[in-house]
Amino acid sequence: MADTRPIGVFDSGIGGLTVLREIWRATPSESTIYFGDNSRTPYGTKSASTVRKYSLQNMKFLETFDVKMIVIACNTASAYAYEEVSKQSKVPVVEVITPGADAACMATKNGRIGIIATGATVGTGVYENAVRSKAASLAAEGVNAAALSDIKIFQKACPMFVSLAEEGWWDNDIARLTAREYLDPLKEEGIDTLVLGCTHYPLLTKVISEVMGPDVKLINTGVAVAGSVREILEKNDIASDLVDPERKFYTSDDPNMFEQVASPFLGQGLPSGTVHVTTDRYEV
Ligand code: DGL
Repeated sequence: MADTRPIGVFDSGIGGLTVLREIWRATPSESTIYFGDNSRTPYGTKSASTVRKYSLQNMKFLETFDVKMIVIACNTASAYAYEEVSKQSKVPVVEVITPGADAACMATKNGRIGIIATGATVGTGVYENAVRSKAASLAAEGVNAAALSDIKIFQKACPMFVSLAEEGWWDNDIARLTAREYLDPLKEEGIDTLVLGCTHYPLLTKVISEVMGPDVKLINTGVAVAGSVREILEKNDIASDLVDPERKFYTSDDPNMFEQVASPFLGQGLPSGTVHVTTDRYEV
């Protein structure tokens, strides 16, 4: 029987919408509840314990909707809080790091993989560990073994990309200069695959690919995450069959501001009816 309970998705703010739109595309019958913690964003500059606390509070809020799955649509929260959230959650939890790392291992031909993310995500080393562990298991199975038996990983924190994305500066000279400053060193390392390890970065795809050139494959983790969501729905037999699923939005800051900034991520007229809510009242 179809399970029409919604999927809960949270992010530090608007970046997770790049994941949400891919979930909509991959699983169009699913109702979704999105929570953007805009009043406490960014997470990428905060400590592990703060991000863990915020993430658990966000999880508790989403659980009030009887969600059937929680997607942590934020790389920083995934890096710092996935373990704790999945331990405490009553439903399956999907993080955004493993699916992106897996996709990078399948994409590389020369074994040289770049990872760009917030300083917090890079600092935890979780992406690097996820790529190394996936590469080792694939190589052992003989999958893409020529590239994966001796992988080289190059990481770079690109904090300014978050502000550029939120400002709507996706395709101007400042974005281009910033991208060159961050990415030229990765290009010089001869990487052939670059993981966009922060939810905001897909908005800058045009300038990032201009700088990296046509031979470097960009991994949009949102697409990989949506694939994982679909797999888990099918495996647990909890997929929905709704023709007109509900798509609700909550923000911890001003709903009008949220909708203005969010609209270019999701398309004309979306989101609408966003409700203000705070999650700091939840004891964790
Ligand atoms: N959503 C965050 C991430 O993917 C980026 C924005 C922030 O620092 O909160 O890491």
